[in-house]
Amino acid sequence: MEKSDFIWFDGEFVDWDSAQINVMTHTLHYGTGVFEGIRARNTEKGVSIFRLNDHVDRLFASAESYNLKIPYTKEVIFEAIKDVVSKNKLESAYIRPLVFFGEGEMGLLPKDVPVRVSIAAWLWGAYLGDDAVNKGVNVCISKWRRISPTSFIPLAKGVGGYMNSTLAKIDAVDNGYDDAIMLGDDGTVAEGSGQNIFIVKNNNISTPPNSTGALNGITRRTVIEIAKSKNIFIEEKNLTVEDLKNADEVFFTGTATGVVGVVSIDGDDISNGRVGEITSDLINSYEDVVNAKDDNFKSYITLI
Ligand SMILES: Cc1ncc(COP(=O)(O)O)c(C=O)c1O
Repeated sequence: MEKSDFIWFDGEFVDWDSAQINVMTHTLHYGTGVFEGIRARNTEKGVSIFRLNDHVDRLFASAESYNLKIPYTKEVIFEAIKDVVSKNKLESAYIRPLVFFGEGEMGLLPKDVPVRVSIAAWLWGAYLGDDAVNKGVNVCISKWRRISPTSFIPLAKGVGGYMNSTLAKIDAVDNGYDDAIMLGDDGTVAEGSGQNIFIVKNNNISTPPNSTGALNGITRRTVIEIAKSKNIFIEEKNLTVEDLKNADEVFFTGTATGVVGVVSIDGDDISNGRVGEITSDLINSYEDVVNAKDDNFKSYITLI
């Protein structure tokens, strides 16, 4: 990890190495936190953060659903996220706000436990590697199912829920794959370990609905809008493993990942095993949108 100089921690900037917590921190024991993953990019218009409002909204919604009351307003967090990028003189960054229960009473009921907030930003390249954009990724169907809406809140980015995602990711990498596709409760496709998933079949695009446990990804929403703007038919639909394997194209979306083609599943090539045409076109359009080159999406750009 490429450390930056400062982390915003409970309202002030501290040196990266001084942003420490006690081992009796509630969230360290019970996974009771929430977080966001946001990107800033060096665009022709200046350093800009993509869909910052939506990320802040999702952070607050995640916190509320897991009973964490953030002791700051959305405006304060919005500004702090911008500040953490500029204070560290970063031109491009991955930004990680984290909301967690600190030290107080132990036990499952977080009573009299302070809610703490940290925001780190650092230089982090393509999550699935630089080659992924051109060559795509090779994935497996995970033996682990995505957290269920009957036992977790999959729409929230809850810290504890990510134990499930790490099980799938580690297992996939141990078996020689780049990442994993996770099924939901009913055995239909939910999403990747840290990405949403789409298929292209006969020039139509589909993606599993959030009822499968898939996160309401911000990149997912952006790609849906981009596809609609190109008059490509796109729908939310339950997908089976067979739908994936018989698709013309499959791709992942996520803030850390970007838009990346999935070129094989369980060792079976998707079509000719190359990143498909529609996927490539969406990758290019997405890059234009997040790099502030497409004025139709300029409301999603926050310049620092
Ligand atoms: C489990 C999971 N699904 C999907 C996504 C993609 O969401 P977004 O596009 O908002 O980054 C992420 C990334 O945060 C994730 O962790």
